[in-house]
Amino acid sequence: MERKAIGVFDSGLGGLTAVKQLLTVLPQEDIVYFGDTGRVPYGNRSNDTIKKYAVQDARFLLKHNVKMVIAACGTVSSVAGDLKDTLGVPYTGVVNPTVYTAVRTTKNKRVGVIGTSATIGSHSYKTRLQEEDSEIKVYEQDCPLFVPLVENGFISKDDPIVHLTVERYLAPLRENGVDTLILGCTHYPILRDAIQEVMGSDVTLIDSGMETAYYAKKVLKREGLLTKENDEGNCQFYVSDTPDNFEKVAEIFLGQNIEHSVTQIDIERY
Ligand code: DGL
Repeated sequence: MERKAIGVFDSGLGGLTAVKQLLTVLPQEDIVYFGDTGRVPYGNRSNDTIKKYAVQDARFLLKHNVKMVIAACGTVSSVAGDLKDTLGVPYTGVVNPTVYTAVRTTKNKRVGVIGTSATIGSHSYKTRLQEEDSEIKVYEQDCPLFVPLVENGFISKDDPIVHLTVERYLAPLRENGVDTLILGCTHYPILRDAIQEVMGSDVTLIDSGMETAYYAKKVLKREGLLTKENDEGNCQFYVSDTPDNFEKVAEIFLGQNIEHSVTQIDIERY
């Protein structure tokens, strides 16, 4: 069987939270990643624009003959509708895999959800959580400053700007007594340490990127699409703006040097 990669896309760095987990659970797989750094953030744009961007991002990945597309983006997963029928390869967003884990995790049935304004406005996580268990109380909060913080490399919990921003958004959720917090935007696990510090160690954080990577493994297995080769997979990264900042933050987050594997492309052509 021809060796094909898994395609992963996001508006920027956030989808790396899925890639990091894919590297652990499927180390033999090749990955093609697209981060739309020229058009980030998606989360404060209209649904039509987000959908148009998502279709272009997926088309770019399909040009690389990928065997599966992962929208590692809470915003796309919440408002762009189901891309499955248009792609011709297995597809997943992040909402469903994340919700399944949150429902199994909460003990007091009080779940917090944080995400971009588009995601929270869509109530995608809330709706799916309550479809799974109608007794769950859901507390939602959008955190529009988190994506720009991450994209600009402000990720340390010891940075006062990070701490103050996280505290400002999350204090109300903490006061609502949630025992589980869905990081419903894939950028947010990059701020995990700061978020955990503010929420306290008793609150379980659910990483939407990580849950989606586990789910993708199940889908590939079910479809008989896992690679048979045993050698380590190869990752290629593409961005729609200059690679410099992406490389810097990606290296810190992934813990590996990706200096020569990031290429800039013109996404408007797709
Ligand atoms: N990582 C994207 C998400 O999961 C960020 C969206 C944005 O660019 O605002 O929602």
